[in-house]
Amino acid sequence: MSQTIAVIRGDGIGPEIMDATLEVLDRMKLGFDYDFVEAGLGAYEACGELLPAKTLEAISRHRVALKSPLTTPVGEGFSSINVELRKHFDLYANVRPAISFPNTKSRYSGIDIITVRENTEGAYIGLGQQLSEDGEVASLTQQITRHGSERIVRYAFEMARKQGRKKVTVVHKANILKSTSGLFLRTARLVAADFPDIECNEMIVDNTCMQLVMRPEQFDVIVTTNLFGDIVSDLCAGLVGGLGLAPGANIGKDAAIFEAVHGSAPDIAGQGIANPCALLLGAAQMLGHLGKEEDARRLRRAIVSTMEARDRLTPDLGGTGNTRSFGEAISERVNG
Ligand code: NAI
Ligand code: MG
Repeated sequence: MSQTIAVIRGDGIGPEIMDATLEVLDRMKLGFDYDFVEAGLGAYEACGELLPAKTLEAISRHRVALKSPLTTPVGEGFSSINVELRKHFDLYANVRPAISFPNTKSRYSGIDIITVRENTEGAYIGLGQQLSEDGEVASLTQQITRHGSERIVRYAFEMARKQGRKKVTVVHKANILKSTSGLFLRTARLVAADFPDIECNEMIVDNTCMQLVMRPEQFDVIVTTNLFGDIVSDLCAGLVGGLGLAPGANIGKDAAIFEAVHGSAPDIAGQGIANPCALLLGAAQMLGHLGKEEDARRLRRAIVSTMEARDRLTPDLGGTGNTRSFGEAISERVNG
């Protein structure tokens, strides 16, 4: 049975990078069918809804979606569509690889770090947001559950084992945030005991940030709570050349959504110069998720060798090519 993928072409540069990505996937002859559905500003303008029921229904039916960036209209009453999607499908694992590519402006090479960020709990649950009447005191509720911690840490260890990775670093702040980060850390230790073949170490989040900048090669897989993961994964993206090369997967039990980490880049939309790599790397994550590991490697190799040759790269990478030509250069390499 062929696999159908829900495809959201998105806003701004979204359609441009999605077209380039699908062209590369088509060239790989993977036999996918695509179900094109809408979300974001485009959907809002077309039917008055940011996240139409038809789109949710398609994602839950196909269980896999490839998604371009969406523009959330500025103004009251519009909550982030990405947050809505995570909530709706309980996409608890945000998996963000940061891998060094040749010929970027990064000061580092040889980096290969995957951050596994808990995507549904912690400081981002949106509960208890309060500002005192005099505007002097603000507070919010953080919530960590044993269930949420257990499933994210288990996900990280299982992923490490499946990918032949050697080490998982549990990032926390249990020395100060004794209740929330403490529960996460204690749960992580119990889960780690089930994976004696994988080294587990613990690191406090502030030290982690320093260590990432000073000696990034010591990291392999990082697993952490929502807020720390948000920050640490962007730091990792910065180590390998920025958001143009940073993909992210949002994974739940019943659905998974693969995307670029960057936004819809309204400043360059319509010019045809956006870098399609982050979305292509998201597609590579999707291939791995679908059990097509060899195809995922094939796609990544094609991206790497295109960058090595500096062949038709987009301007953000210092090239003189465009989205289409960069995609073509990658396409020409995916089959050999
Ligand atoms: P952005 O990531 O869209 O842009 C930041 C800067 O990076 C801009 O200068 C842009 O030109 C550049 N850039 C981003 N992607 C690029 C690419 N593929 N190639 C070359 N240059 C690239 O962030 P910004 O401007 O803060 O947000 C714009 C819109 O995107 C907002 O409406 C925001 O809500 C939305 N957004 C959506 C996300 C998603 O759907 N996953 C994630 C982040 C933002
Ligand atoms: Mg973020």
